[in-house]
Amino acid sequence: MSFPRPRFHLTPARNWMNDPNGLVFTGDRWHAFFQFNPEGNDWGNMSWGHASSPDLLHWDEHPVALHHRPGEQIYSGSIVAGDDGTLSAFYTSAYDRGIQATSRATSVDGGTTWTMDAANPVIDRGSSDFRDPKVVRVPDGGWLMLAVEAVERRVVFYSSDDLSTWRETGSFGPIGPEGVVWECPDLVRLPVEGTTERVWVLLLSTNPVGDDADPAGSAMHYVVGDLADGVFHCLDGGLRPLDLGRDCYAGVTFDSAPEGSAVMLAWMGNWRYAHVVPSSPWRGAMSLPRTLGLRRTGDALQLVQRPVLPRFDVLDASALRIEPHAVLDVRWDPAAAGTVRLRLAGEGDAAVDVVHDPAARTLSVSRTGRTADALHPDFAGVRTAPLADPASGGLTLVIDGPLLEVFADDGLTVLSHLVTLGAGPVTISASAATSVVPTVQVGTVRVDAPAD
Ligand code: FRU
Repeated sequence: MSFPRPRFHLTPARNWMNDPNGLVFTGDRWHAFFQFNPEGNDWGNMSWGHASSPDLLHWDEHPVALHHRPGEQIYSGSIVAGDDGTLSAFYTSAYDRGIQATSRATSVDGGTTWTMDAANPVIDRGSSDFRDPKVVRVPDGGWLMLAVEAVERRVVFYSSDDLSTWRETGSFGPIGPEGVVWECPDLVRLPVEGTTERVWVLLLSTNPVGDDADPAGSAMHYVVGDLADGVFHCLDGGLRPLDLGRDCYAGVTFDSAPEGSAVMLAWMGNWRYAHVVPSSPWRGAMSLPRTLGLRRTGDALQLVQRPVLPRFDVLDASALRIEPHAVLDVRWDPAAAGTVRLRLAGEGDAAVDVVHDPAARTLSVSRTGRTADALHPDFAGVRTAPLADPASGGLTLVIDGPLLEVFADDGLTVLSHLVTLGAGPVTISASAATSVVPTVQVGTVRVDAPAD
């Protein structure tokens, strides 16, 4: 079994990719840099790969932007566009001697070529786990940098007026489960639906560590809060899951996105089994870009994710044998249907079941079949998410080769998964507990496949 290449998600032409790094909108294009191994299809020799896109769906890959050097790998970080158009990349220098520090590189040609600062590293705390700097512009002027002390489960904050000199302003954490490292923080100011209000949200990725590490593996979370004196404070609820699927990690947002929108891209992978994902000559894919916002439900503010969907041609709704590159819009009468079950059946006995259960108020996605079992002992199985609005009567599924993203509750509930349906046609069947038949609108996506 090998994974077919996605058509409208970002993948590298060849070699290993993990986290998105340095997402920036500049020169009318979306630029995505990413953790990349220029020399192979496994994690290692970490460098920043580079791709750009006019529409977030068609990507052109460019030469490696920041190359690893003797004694130094280039781990995750971010890019900001200055007022004069200069791009500043802040990245993790992961030195072979065991220190992780923040370094800077600049580009004056829109991200094609980069010069590393002579004064690097810019911030060295003498720490072995200080990484993933994310720089954001703050509304009252200046810049804020967030980075993690990963093992301490803390986000550390620095502020700067000129992107050169940084002053530590405080830290956030630890909160939430122990036995994990914190990685890839981001801070976004999100609009609350139906209001003119904007609220600060911290995005955070956590990866279980240690001998009895949680087999569920790595996952993304968010925290709703406020920013005061250069430090984030939690307002309510603590860490909440951002995506209840198995494969959404290290998500961060684009700097300088049009209209101040928060557009997130995440790595569709899980450190638990990323190294054995059967794709070649590439390994690693990004999620669909998702615009983030907040919705007030009762007393709580909850994260809403809206995917940037490719244009698609809607097929006859009875054509339920599809190419594995499609958008499925599933609708039913919530008053009559009861539990709705959707089965995607692929090669051999590979299947994915999506079950919407309004009585239990849950949405579950399970990966089954021999190829899922064989991939890794912790790969197959079911994930269950609470439904915020069980009476909503609708789901959107995006399938692109080995990638499945399920959106429910009008963007409140999202599950992203790698799936092993194979490269051939996928058979879709939808059924309900009652005689109601859910309608499935299938859109086949017209995007040219990148060549292997
Ligand atoms: C997250 C991460 C980061 C690190 C990078 C290394 O997936 O572990 O913390 O900078 O990947 O590739």
